[in-house]
Amino acid sequence: MKKIFLFFPLVMIAAACVALEPVSEDVALERSKAMIEELGGNLSKHLKESIISAGFVEAIDACSAVAQETPAKMNKKNRGTIRRVSLKLRNEKNAPDDYEKNVLIQMEKDHANQELKDIYKSVVKNKRGKPTLRVMKPILVKSLCLNCHGTPYTWKRAAIKRVLEIYPDDRATGYASGEVRGAFSVVYPLQ
Ligand code: HEC
Repeated sequence: MKKIFLFFPLVMIAAACVALEPVSEDVALERSKAMIEELGGNLSKHLKESIISAGFVEAIDACSAVAQETPAKMNKKNRGTIRRVSLKLRNEKNAPDDYEKNVLIQMEKDHANQELKDIYKSVVKNKRGKPTLRVMKPILVKSLCLNCHGTPYTWKRAAIKRVLEIYPDDRATGYASGEVRGAFSVVYPLQ
């Protein structure tokens, strides 16, 4: 039994050390875009279905669970990792790293100048010095979103209460339609 306990960690360490097959930037970009489509589609479908079947207050709970679980499941299956990030957070787990923060600020500037791009990408070195493709796509506020990200006094009281119960430090409110709410962010190792 002891041997098995020793064996598995060793295999896992060995697996982590094996270099990945190199992937071209074009392939990585296509795969990153596919991950963004998949996550965006899933979250949007789930949000609409839970609002229709259960109402806004219950949809907050549904959002809360699915928003973290769905990308976590995808990240287990894919070489790249995906998450949502924002400058005004509801969930601290969605805090941007330095790279993402700079791109989010750039997106806001571009949006103000009506030059917002669909995709922001560049190849950077990760902590271990390996080239990594970073792909971000802006997420814009639509009228549906205002029910949980608009000015709170226009919301249902029960919805405000529920959001603050789960996220006491919520800062993701006060948005208007068309603003940049945040971004999908993919980190895709090229080597
Ligand atoms: C039913 C309420 C509800 C609606 C409607 C809603 N959201 Fe959210 N939103 C949430 C909750 C809850 C979270 C926190 C999820 C988490 O824990 O990761 C969240 C988080 C986010 C985040 C991640 C950044 C952060 O602040 O943590 C983005 C981006 C986002 N929402 C965009 C949108 C957009 C765009 C729409 C409209 C298409 C929308 N939301 C509609 C409840 C909602």
